[in-house]
Amino acid sequence: MSMKGKICLVTGTSSGIGKATAIGLAKMDAIVLAAMRDSEKSRNALNEIKAKSGKDDSSIIFLPVDLSSQKSLRDLAKEVNQRFGRLDVLLNNAGVSEFKRSLTQDGIETTFAVNVLAPFLLMNLLTEKLEASAPSRIVNVSSAAANGESIDFDNLQGEKKFRMFGNYGQSKLALNLITVEFSRRLAGTGVTANFLHPGVIRTDLGSRGMNPVLKAIGKFVRLFMASPETGAKTSIYLASSPDVEGITGKYFGKSKEQKANPISYDQEAAKRLWKICEDLTGVSIPSKTVTTA
Ligand SMILES: NC(=O)c1ccc[n+]([C@@H]2O[C@H](COP(=O)([O-])OP(=O)(O)OC[C@H]3O[C@@H](n4cnc5c(N)ncnc54)[C@H](OP(=O)(O)O)[C@@H]3O)[C@@H](O)[C@H]2O)c1
Repeated sequence: MSMKGKICLVTGTSSGIGKATAIGLAKMDAIVLAAMRDSEKSRNALNEIKAKSGKDDSSIIFLPVDLSSQKSLRDLAKEVNQRFGRLDVLLNNAGVSEFKRSLTQDGIETTFAVNVLAPFLLMNLLTEKLEASAPSRIVNVSSAAANGESIDFDNLQGEKKFRMFGNYGQSKLALNLITVEFSRRLAGTGVTANFLHPGVIRTDLGSRGMNPVLKAIGKFVRLFMASPETGAKTSIYLASSPDVEGITGKYFGKSKEQKANPISYDQEAAKRLWKICEDLTGVSIPSKTVTTA
């Protein structure tokens, strides 16, 4: 299938699933805006994406961003809004699973900042561009780790207790909630918003900050996991397939609709979380597009 003429912003393209997603979309002739840190790792990834897709600078465009910094996210959104005439796909792929609790330069717990607030900000700041390019799509990479979780509003940022898997799963459930809330608010605009589990994939996720013993165990376990290319399949499907044209607010795995944690559809929890995200970022979707309170 061709994505010729489509512009896709993908975050976290320096490794793992995001890099494989960028290669896949570029091979389908999309213009890929590869949003990643300004680092040597990212520049190497950029060269690999170009080499493996057979494309050049005209269709693989490096946009530097630190997703843990709200200033950097605003700069990214400004650049996309000013430099590109359209935006067909916003693919919030980047994510972290922090071993130890840490704070960003904005004073926010890192997992919550990168996994929840970064997509929230990008969705809000790019809504008008997405609407103007409709039909267009928001694709958020969540995780099955959200399935056994609930939202503890008193411990959203691990203030009381930080558990690596618990806070990661809770952040992905929070991402589900804001994705579904976005789909409600964008109803009728031609912009869809869906979320997905990529599978259990061989990447470096979760190994940052681990001690060497746990890192070595993790490396061994990863040998039995699926490839990043397999992990990219559902993201690419949701970004490109005509099968999901007009489908919104749904959860996918293995390129099929799946049953999400029911809390993902809890409207009261979504409203409460939305307000928290608004307060922490100072932005909200423009009122002209809001169709539900
Ligand atoms: N692997 C799995 O089994 C699995 C399962 C379920 C869900 N997921 C989800 O899949 C997505 C992709 O993860 P992955 O498995 O491919 O892991 P990964 O290889 O560690 O990729 C994560 C990406 O996010 C980027 N990133 C993290 N923090 C950033 C920041 N502050 N600024 C800019 N970029 C940042 C990383 O860039 P740097 O390297 O520069 O930090 C990297 O490109 C994540 O949302 C993850 O939660 C993965």
